[in-house]
Amino acid sequence: MTMRMVDIIAKKRDGKHLSKEEIHFVIDGYTNGQIPDYQMSAFLMAVFFQGMSSNETAKLTMAMVKSGDQIDLSGIEGVKVDKHSTGGVGDTTTLILAPLVSALGIPVAKMSGRGLGHTGGTIDKLEAVQGFHVEISEQQFIELVNQNKIAVVGQSGNLTPADKKIYSLRDVTATVNSIPLIASSIMSKKIAAGADAIVLDVKVGAGAFMKQLDDARELANAMVEIGNQVGRKTLAVISNMEQPLGYAVGNALEVKEAIETLQGKGPADLHELCLVLGSKMVVLAGKANSEEEARTMLEEVIANGKALQVFKQFLSAQGGDPSVVDDVTKLPQATYQIPVNSTESGYISGIVADEIGVAAMLLGAGRATKESEIDLSVGIVLHKKIGDAVEAGESIATIYSNTEEVDDVINRIMKAYDYSKDKPSPMPLIYNL
Ligand code: URA
Ligand code: CA
Repeated sequence: MTMRMVDIIAKKRDGKHLSKEEIHFVIDGYTNGQIPDYQMSAFLMAVFFQGMSSNETAKLTMAMVKSGDQIDLSGIEGVKVDKHSTGGVGDTTTLILAPLVSALGIPVAKMSGRGLGHTGGTIDKLEAVQGFHVEISEQQFIELVNQNKIAVVGQSGNLTPADKKIYSLRDVTATVNSIPLIASSIMSKKIAAGADAIVLDVKVGAGAFMKQLDDARELANAMVEIGNQVGRKTLAVISNMEQPLGYAVGNALEVKEAIETLQGKGPADLHELCLVLGSKMVVLAGKANSEEEARTMLEEVIANGKALQVFKQFLSAQGGDPSVVDDVTKLPQATYQIPVNSTESGYISGIVADEIGVAAMLLGAGRATKESEIDLSVGIVLHKKIGDAVEAGESIATIYSNTEEVDDVINRIMKAYDYSKDKPSPMPLIYNL
């Protein structure tokens, strides 16, 4: 009997489980244009309300993986561990983690994108280093990773086309916020990019996709289950995104912060999150037996300069000027530095991360549309984080800008900060799964 989309929609609408064949029928049919948007919209809404079992979600993920190219990293020796963050504000962890775990001999074969958002993607940030480029062939990419244990390449054009098409449809049918749909979307891209093992950083809080801890936990567990069901070892961390991570939000500014963190002088929260995520990567790569042991190894390559050395070698292998590491003034510099001063005295009780992110984007640090040009030099550096004491008139942030017309940006930053008379109790950076 030939399958019909209408029957599959009805089956999911009634809360029944779909078979592998039915899931492939939907994904393949939608990707190649045989299933129209209106049927796919109804299907997505049925999934939104009825959910999917972990088994169905794993099948959905693999159907999306198979909709396009799969990167073959088998030419690279060792366990290829990838890391993914569900997105926050000022998240510079990839720039730090890549050289950090590579310094322990773990191959880092990173495929990265530009994308939309408050600041650029990893590639945009790296392009703040004069000469650095990711236009290398797949062959060169694999050779570089074998040689140096680290390389970054731009995203292949035809990775998970099913996800691209479905994500656009979800965006306009109010079906983005569904755990099985988010989990399969994220995991399909990681798996297609060739990862053997995956560490996930699921953000929770005002500046994150998941505002509530319960939802973040559910998403993290769904992704871990997908990974484990399809043979990619997966670990997850839930981390706080109530306020931006670190102090810097902007491309060149975040590269500078990454260099400082690799020197062991980074912001405490960024440093800690990198050690937590890095330890899990080291364990999955089979280089340590426990996260404690892995952490000691990571602390050592920060302290002895090896991680920084790897970062320099990585930059220069892809055309970049490694001397920026010793002289960060060689990074793109904004013309103006404009302070934002507190109007209140007391303690900082909140910093709405999203508002800081939008403020950075208004300065030109991120893309509002695919066509927008990024200004790598601009952004915001916070001076106060949650729990810090502040006096009226004291600077809470500095705006790095190429225009003096920044009233909007100042207002947003002022609005993002909340104050209290008493010191707020400390918030955890990492939550248990
Ligand atoms: N990020 C993704 O890649 N997919 C989603 O569905 C949500 C966030
Ligand atoms: Ca930061």
